[in-house]
Amino acid sequence: MALLDILIYPDPRLHTEARTVESIDKRIQTLIVDMSETMYAAPGIGLAAPQVNVTERIIVIDISDSKDSLLVMINPEIIHTEGYTELEEGCLSVPGIYAQVSRGEKIRVQALDKDGKPFELTAEGLLGVCIQHEIDHLDGKVFVDYLSRMKQDRIKKKMLKTQRNS
Ligand code: NI
Repeated sequence: MALLDILIYPDPRLHTEARTVESIDKRIQTLIVDMSETMYAAPGIGLAAPQVNVTERIIVIDISDSKDSLLVMINPEIIHTEGYTELEEGCLSVPGIYAQVSRGEKIRVQALDKDGKPFELTAEGLLGVCIQHEIDHLDGKVFVDYLSRMKQDRIKKKMLKTQRNS
């Protein structure tokens, strides 16, 4: 097990589209364990593989207070969306920044679990928003991309300044 380095916005690698996972082998299993550890240690409630510089379609999520409800999704796909909702979102790749983003209120997702078994899930509220946020990462999208150009520029400047000073 290992903690992985998280790419920080505006790292251009965060805007790379991730490819489909073709076979769930030992390497993928280890990656999932490392991603989960990294997410819990951060601490965060979700992490997508592109955030740790692996351009493959894998996300891990745990929105529980007790941190014992790990959800692993490989090649996740939203197959139905209903309504609109907005929650204040944050991201481990954009530390200290929070903003509201318009998302589907209720979604139906299909994915493979960590053993490659297909499953479907209906999600709303925080879980629904979190899944949509993480799937965005797989498509090379960060939540600040939804904000105005002015806000994006301000966040970029702030992130670059923080990184220079650390
Ligand atoms: Ni994120």
